[in-house]
Amino acid sequence: MKKITISAPGKLMLFGEHAVVYNRPCIVTAVDQRMFMTIEQMPQKTFRLDAEDVFVMTYEKPMRLLGTGDLPKAVSFVEQAVKNFHEKYPMKFGVKVTTKSDFSAGFGFGSSSASTVCAIEGLARLNEVNLSKKEIFDLSYKTILAIQGSGSGFDVAAALYGGTLYFVTGGKVIQPMTIDDIPFFVGYTGFKADTPTIVKEVAERASKDPDLYKKIYDEIEQIVNSSLEAFLKRDWKKVGFLMNMNQKLLEKIGVSSAKLSAMIQAAQNAGAYGAKLSGAGVGDCMIAIAPPEKYQAIETAVTKIGGQVIHVQPNVAGVRKEI
Ligand code: MEV
Repeated sequence: MKKITISAPGKLMLFGEHAVVYNRPCIVTAVDQRMFMTIEQMPQKTFRLDAEDVFVMTYEKPMRLLGTGDLPKAVSFVEQAVKNFHEKYPMKFGVKVTTKSDFSAGFGFGSSSASTVCAIEGLARLNEVNLSKKEIFDLSYKTILAIQGSGSGFDVAAALYGGTLYFVTGGKVIQPMTIDDIPFFVGYTGFKADTPTIVKEVAERASKDPDLYKKIYDEIEQIVNSSLEAFLKRDWKKVGFLMNMNQKLLEKIGVSSAKLSAMIQAAQNAGAYGAKLSGAGVGDCMIAIAPPEKYQAIETAVTKIGGQVIHVQPNVAGVRKEI
């Protein structure tokens, strides 16, 4: 029986969250916290999952029942990915999936998208089905939508392509950016944000004032496009300035929080070029762009108000075969 181990990175949103759900661009970078997944063929036609990090051990069901019943959240993305792959490319065998991740699901670094991409890429390789990157993206994105109901797919693209990407909703544009380093700082609020809930709340508010939200998303689009240029020129002061502008618009759509705003302000006051929340908002992380000599002062300021510093490297490789 064949076996393969695949890994895929988590992600951090740099610009354009929320607007990217509505046909606008964003900029995302893949970070060095990876999901590792081993997939083994099994003679009996069953799906089995061992995911110790999320306390799932020996979860098992017949392949024909994939996706049925109430799926525990921790298994749902992998099970749905196997289901979607199996429907399109029927497998003669069952599969045993074992996951192990570098990152805490709490930080919002995208463990669901990383595990979905690992599953689709791993199954394609294991079954010798030759899929293009875009085909893997489409099948993975379909999986995410089936479970979450919403999402732009930017996290799937980051897990798959790696690096830093200029991305438009649903993968309409997936453009790798040539950047080697990004002088950034990441702080965690201590609260886990539930992205689908926050996206839904924003949609509800937008439905009451569609013109205002359209205007805000258009402005975010312009900021993202300007930041693409600034990134490519390595004009970090400009990137920081644009982050501050993006943050103001995120506050207008109601996705910042007292803790996020305090951490962002602390970073700005301690010498960052700019700072903003990253991802869905409400909880999760903030990021700042800063000259490296200011990192220590920013770390002290953010920690002092209860933020947790997270050391991650941006711009890392996308999904790959490990063994
Ligand atoms: C969440 O990390 C980012 C959002 O834009 C949702 C999405 O793009 O799928 C809020």
